[in-house]
Amino acid sequence: MPPFVTVGIALTGTAEISENNESLYACKVEPRTGKYIARLFSSGMTILVALPDNITINTMHLQSVIINVRGTVRMFPERRMRRVRSRNVQPLLCETTLTKNDLVAPLFVDETTTAPKPIESMPGQFRYPVDGIAGIAGKMWERGIRAVLLFGIPSHKDDAATSAYDTDGIVQQAVRRIKAAYPGMVVITDVCACEYTSHGHCGIVGGTRSGEKDLLNDESLLLMNRIAISHAEAGADIVAPSCMLDGMVHSIRTALDDEGYEDVLIMSYSTKFSSALYGPFREAAESGFSFGDRSTYQMNPANGREAYLESRLDMDEGADILMVKPAGPYLDVLAEIATLGLPVAGYQVSGEYSMIKAAAERGWIQEKETVLESLTCIKRAGADLVITYFAYDACGWL
Ligand code: PBG
Ligand code: ZN
Repeated sequence: MPPFVTVGIALTGTAEISENNESLYACKVEPRTGKYIARLFSSGMTILVALPDNITINTMHLQSVIINVRGTVRMFPERRMRRVRSRNVQPLLCETTLTKNDLVAPLFVDETTTAPKPIESMPGQFRYPVDGIAGIAGKMWERGIRAVLLFGIPSHKDDAATSAYDTDGIVQQAVRRIKAAYPGMVVITDVCACEYTSHGHCGIVGGTRSGEKDLLNDESLLLMNRIAISHAEAGADIVAPSCMLDGMVHSIRTALDDEGYEDVLIMSYSTKFSSALYGPFREAAESGFSFGDRSTYQMNPANGREAYLESRLDMDEGADILMVKPAGPYLDVLAEIATLGLPVAGYQVSGEYSMIKAAAERGWIQEKETVLESLTCIKRAGADLVITYFAYDACGWL
C-alpha cells in the first residue's frame, strides 16, 4: 500500500505534493518525461504531479496511487453529490456518449450455405451466404453502422490454410461485394487461419523442441502476409490480424507496403487473452482446435503488465489501431493501453454477447439496458471503437 500523498491542483498543470491522508481520491499515475500525469477519474481533469521520493513507480506498468486533492473535497452536508444527479442537470454532465460511429459489427460469411444459418449459441446471429452479404451490410448501413468486421467459413480446410488467401476465397468475395454496393462502409477483415486449418489452430503447426505440436511463429507469419495481401487486394480498408504471433504487425505492414497497400490500416488484436468467452464464436466460425489450446499464443488472463507490453510492441511495429479482447472483464487493461496514444478498440466477444442474451431470454436481466450499459462502459474505459454483436440492435436504440 503506497503512502497517502496530497496533490494540490493548479490550473496551469503543475501541482505540489505533500503528505497527508485526509479526503482520499483515486487516480492513475503514468510516467512521462520525468513528471507524472494523474488523471482524476471523478472529474476527468489531468494534472501534473511530482511524486515524493518515498513512492516508487514501476515505469513499465501504471499503478493506482491514492492521492488527496487538497481543498477541493468538502464533506457532507456541503458536498451533496446527488445535486449533480438531478434529472435536468445530469444529462449536461454526462462524461461518455455512445454513438453509432463507435460500433463495429462482426459478420460471418459462410461458403457452405445458401441461406442464412442461425448460430445456435448466439441467438440473433447468423452465418450468411456470400450472395446475401451485401444486402446484410446494406441493412446495417441504413441503420447507421459504418464498419463491419468479416469472418469467413470456407468449404475447404487443410493444414496450410490455403483457402484463407485464395483470391476467390469467401472473405475476399464478400469484401468485393460489400465495397461495390456500399463504398463508404469501412470493411475490416479478420486475418487469421483458424477457420481455414484442418487442425483449427491460428497458423502453421509443427513439432517443437519439447516434441509437442504447437503453432510455429515465423512460418505462420508468411501465411498471415499472404492472407492480409489477398484481403487488401479485394478492397479491405483495414486488416485485423488476430493470431497473436510475435512480429505479426511488422511482417504484415512490410508485406502490404511492398505490394503498394500502404493506405490499408492494421487494426491489431494486440492484447488478446486466452479466454473461455470465445466458446460461442468457435461454434459460429467452426474454428475450434483439434488438440491443445491457444494458451501458447494468446495471453494469460492474469497478466496485466504483459498485456500492456503486448500492445506497446504492436504500436512500435506499426499498428494503426490497438485492441483489447475480450472487453468487459479487461477494462483495467484497456484503460492502460489507451494511454499509449493510439486508437483502441474493445471487442465485446461472443461469450459476453451470449451471456447477456441467455439471461435476457430468461427474463433475468433487461437486454437493452444491459447492452447499452456494457457498451458505454467499454467506451468509458478508453475505447474509441467497440466491436460488438449487438451493433445492429444498439444502433436501433441510440
Ligand atoms: C480468431 C478469432 C477468434 C475470435 C476472433 N477472432 C477466436 C479465437 O481466438 O479462438 C473470437 C471472437 C469472439 O469470441 O467473439 N483467432
Ligand atoms: Zn485464429
